Amino acid sequence: MNNLEEIKNSSLQEIEREVFREINEIKDPGSLEHLSTKYLGRKGILTAFLRNITQLPVEERPAAGKSANLLKVKLENTLKDLKARLESETGENNDAIDVTLPGRIFPRGTLHPITRISREISAIFSRIGFDIVEGPEVETDYYNFEALNIPKYHPARDMQDTFYVSENIVLRTHTSPTQPRVMEKVKPPVRIIAPGKVYRCDSDVTHTPMFHQVEGLMVDRNVSFGDLKGTLSTFVHQLFDEDISLRFRPSFFPFTEPSAEVDIRCVMCRGAGCRVCSGTGWLEVLGAGMVHPAVFENVGYDTEEYTGFAFGMGIERLAMLKYGIDDLRKFFENDMRFLRQF
Ligand code: FA5
Ligand code: MG
Repeated sequence: MNNLEEIKNSSLQEIEREVFREINEIKDPGSLEHLSTKYLGRKGILTAFLRNITQLPVEERPAAGKSANLLKVKLENTLKDLKARLESETGENNDAIDVTLPGRIFPRGTLHPITRISREISAIFSRIGFDIVEGPEVETDYYNFEALNIPKYHPARDMQDTFYVSENIVLRTHTSPTQPRVMEKVKPPVRIIAPGKVYRCDSDVTHTPMFHQVEGLMVDRNVSFGDLKGTLSTFVHQLFDEDISLRFRPSFFPFTEPSAEVDIRCVMCRGAGCRVCSGTGWLEVLGAGMVHPAVFENVGYDTEEYTGFAFGMGIERLAMLKYGIDDLRKFFENDMRFLRQF
């Protein structure tokens, strides 16, 4: 329509009808810009019409000029409104802030199941009067073995179970070295738990090379095996529920006498026997016993005056039972589908 002849021939009404038909089809700021140039630009249709008014007969000029200018203003206003609407829809106008928009939601993480159960265990023992302490993961041979009455050449020191850093430095194989570390510093009464990571060269459905234990130690006058049983039963019943079965089984540890291991009814098979409990219906969760006099002697406690109990439990085993997980290695694979369930 840029052709002069055509413009002269097309009436203002025709231009108006055509431009508003085109406006109805506009969906984005780009085509709006294009339309604006087409009609209002230097070589635009309406611009040309206005310019050509001088060629009309004199008596027609005022009326034609007035109508054309009115159309021009109407068109400019329409395009301005449409531009603002399109920009707010496509978000292209960065100055526009819509205060009614809902806030952005940030995805919330959850605690790892091991962290969660560790905190729960600590909370239960805090409530019954135990303090929480920590010991080093890189430990000396002395605290990990010697002070705990585990002599050189004891099978527990086997290279196959222990990660040696150097001849006298190991990655602690249990949390028990916290016992002599604490007793060297404080006089009885002692009532502590010590949660943390331990390392053993071991891997299957109920063993991983790094796992967590919580050590417990109570020393005072007249502490008995009955206190140990009462404390552990209370703990297990608070962590699980009142009707879970546990059993004490005679066992051996060089640093306790007498010693026991405590099993909990396998929650996977409810005692029927499965691969988690190796068909026994029970899962070993902790070792415990009365502190061996040789350990007291190593830290300078009077063995005539004091007695004490100690225990060391596997946190992953407790978490397996609590959350119904059939393979302990899942805790450390960082599979989001697994972790999201907690
Ligand atoms: C000990 O480590 C002793 N220090 C426990 C102890 C403390 C006895 C104080 C007496 C007094 P044991 O090796 O059985 O004992 O391990 C204790 C618990 O850790 C086991 O019952 C089990 O629940 C867990 N555990 C052992 N090895 C692994 C492993 N590789 N992966 C995951 N959990 C394990
Ligand atoms: Mg054991």
